[in-house]
Amino acid sequence: MAEIVEVKVGDKVYQLPVIEGSEGEKAIDIAKLRAESGLVTIDPGFKNTGSTQSAITFLDGEKGILRYRGYSIEELAEKSSFLEVSYLLINGELPSFTELEMFKSDITHHTLIHEDIKSILDGFPSNAHPMGVLSSLVSSLTAFYPESLDPNRSAEGVNLSILRILAKLPTMAAWAYKNEIGHPVNYPDNRLDYCSNFLKMMFALPTDDYEVDPVVADALDKLLILHADHEQNCSTSTVRLVGSSHASLYASLSGGINALWGPLHGGANQAVIEMLEAIKADGGDVNKYMDKAKDKNDPFRLMGFGHRVYKNFDPRAKIIKKAADDVLAKLGINDPILEIAKGLEEVALSDPYFVERKLYPNVDFYSGIIYRAIGIPTSMFTVMFAIGRLPGWIAQWKEMRENGEPIGRPRQIYTGANLRPFVPMGNR
Ligand code: ACO
Repeated sequence: MAEIVEVKVGDKVYQLPVIEGSEGEKAIDIAKLRAESGLVTIDPGFKNTGSTQSAITFLDGEKGILRYRGYSIEELAEKSSFLEVSYLLINGELPSFTELEMFKSDITHHTLIHEDIKSILDGFPSNAHPMGVLSSLVSSLTAFYPESLDPNRSAEGVNLSILRILAKLPTMAAWAYKNEIGHPVNYPDNRLDYCSNFLKMMFALPTDDYEVDPVVADALDKLLILHADHEQNCSTSTVRLVGSSHASLYASLSGGINALWGPLHGGANQAVIEMLEAIKADGGDVNKYMDKAKDKNDPFRLMGFGHRVYKNFDPRAKIIKKAADDVLAKLGINDPILEIAKGLEEVALSDPYFVERKLYPNVDFYSGIIYRAIGIPTSMFTVMFAIGRLPGWIAQWKEMRENGEPIGRPRQIYTGANLRPFVPMGNR
């Protein structure tokens, strides 16, 4: 017998079905509530509202669990590769050896971007933030591949759009960086793996030889895995919402990139490093900044702390903290910023303000330190997040389309003026 929740309004009782997910999560299905009772629910920021039923990522914020398609993030980070994880997220199952080789080869085949995209890039001022450039270039793919505008075309057609964007996003990202520093762009080197190719496009100069450091490429691959999906977060919900109007994959992804950009979401990794730099420049007094973070009259927040769903610890932060130590040790880097980060973490974890509010370091607290160590400039941190999150956005967009979900269109409670007569200009 299915579980029912009863809602009593006056002397009327409405029965609402309870649905249960495969991990025992329960939700009250209110889809018919308005039609039957005239009532809607309200939940600003969707803090307690499920927008979909999804089979991609499972997350338990209280227990600190994150799984892609049933596989734990710890195991995937240790044993898998970013492209294998991408395949898993998008197709639902781990690939066979042949499937993975084919997937890699297809992606490698599409890494080049249309030469005319360079003229779009040239139109941006050199101080353009790479996230703005990236979202524009991704959106421009709709013009270069007009057939991609139809999200209802054949599965092969959709798959081709998916392979193209997985292949081209690193090229676009590296080009956005080259634009920022005013250097000539590098073309992809298809002899290299996904991360090594990206690093070469980022850092090779026509004046010098460039060898990709495998330690750096491995660290990057792991970071991308950790960012690959995170169920219905702000940018993913944006991708699904844009796509729900049957806008194309590239238009939806461009929207997701913009949503990710904000400092309360993916932009936090850049904000963390800027905050740590500011603390260092101000003499390194961690306690002073802890006090600022706790002061309700001060808008300062401890960037990289707190999370909408993790109220225990962010399992990705645990893996990344260790990876940061490993990478810095392997590269022989002694970064004073890391010491400040550790100091902040130590104080925060024992401070009642942070303990009571369950504010723990999130994935962005340490990812910036690794990016810095491997030479990624601060303005590119959120772009790195976008490259990592891409397969998740694609998987979520595809699932939404395949499930035939309706257009996303929330309700509201109107709080403005009631009907009033127009007042002519002379009488105002
Ligand atoms: N520093 C100081 N206080 C904080 C912080 C912080 N980083 N985060 C939350 N709080 C406090 C709030 O002031 C609030 O206190 P109150 O109850 O006394 O009013 C309480 O903790 C709850 O915070 P909310 O903002 O209501 O929590 P919400 O779930 O809406 O926000 C968010 C989550 C946006 C991540 C928030 O913790 C934050 O701004 N963190 C810093 C930015 C950041 O690191 N973002 C990256 C998130 S991870 C990601 O996107 C990959």
